[in-house]
Amino acid sequence: MLVLGIESTAHTFGAGIIDSSAQSASSASSKNARVLSNEYDKYPSTPAGFIPRKLADHHSNCAKKVLENSLEKAGVRLKEIDLVAYSQGPGIGACLRVGYSAARSLSLLLGKPLIPANHAVAHVEIGKWACRCADPLIVYVSGGNTQIAAKQAKKVGKIFGRGERANAGKKFFYHVFGETLDVGIGNFLDALGRELALSPPDAVGVMKKAGDYVNERGKKGVGPEYFVLPYTVKGMNLAFSGLQTAVLRAAREKKASLGGLCFSAQETAFAMLVEASERALCHTAKREVLLVGGVARNTRLQKMYSLMCAEQGARFAVVPPEYAGDQGAMIALAGLKNYLAGIEFASNEPNQDLRLDSQEIKW
Ligand code: FE2
Repeated sequence: MLVLGIESTAHTFGAGIIDSSAQSASSASSKNARVLSNEYDKYPSTPAGFIPRKLADHHSNCAKKVLENSLEKAGVRLKEIDLVAYSQGPGIGACLRVGYSAARSLSLLLGKPLIPANHAVAHVEIGKWACRCADPLIVYVSGGNTQIAAKQAKKVGKIFGRGERANAGKKFFYHVFGETLDVGIGNFLDALGRELALSPPDAVGVMKKAGDYVNERGKKGVGPEYFVLPYTVKGMNLAFSGLQTAVLRAAREKKASLGGLCFSAQETAFAMLVEASERALCHTAKREVLLVGGVARNTRLQKMYSLMCAEQGARFAVVPPEYAGDQGAMIALAGLKNYLAGIEFASNEPNQDLRLDSQEIKW
């Protein structure tokens, strides 16, 4: 089976094609799926940030080209596609609509099923597939999302009488143990990059500035100097807005160098995340930690997780960089899993309110 996945939730329009490596639909499996192509076009970071209407225009303008490139790279003709999956949500409404319209049109044209995929679940599934993880503690870190989760059974069925349940049973979900109470960690770092006018004006700019600062101090034979900042962990939940305000105020008042502030901001935010994750790891007794999402590319964050996992005797896995950010291959994979597991959807339409824990996990 050949599955086309279309991604359009935020700044990226992507089209990925995977091959389930099976002779028929009944023997198809997502485990041995191969990614044939994974093309995308990303709206660049600007000092003004992202304007939803402009993002949607960008996606409409590049959709045809991205799709053609993906088919060409995969060596696949459009009519050979067996399933069309698209990113249903969460995401920016105007952007989601572009991906949905493209996917629905292709599905009608080809006469092939249209399969919605939960964007957050897709980030997890591509990580599990690439790292061969069975049942990890999931740390999902991206622009808009920061969640610590793990697969867990939930009792279902209608409660009646003395707590008995009709149609009682268990269903599995990705249960969220901890998450951000305000902004996502990626948006927090992007905002710092923009406000501090770094190059590029986003999270990558912060990572570079912090890295340069540590290297320069190292050459002088001294360690980095940590500037004390607000640290907000509530149970397994986190908050970043107070930290953001404190960093920007310190920068305005020139209380520390820009490099020192970027280093301290990253250290604080990542330490909060790793502390909450360690608590969740001990609570769930999982033996693996899987880091997914765009912020998973940050090498300092990877280092901190690998240290924590070594202390806890857990395996640490991080999604490969090509599958960390938003792209279509993860949507194709999640769509294939939904299709094979027979997941039913209340609606095929985009849904901005979806969460990692919205969907039943039947695998
Ligand atoms: Fe994403």
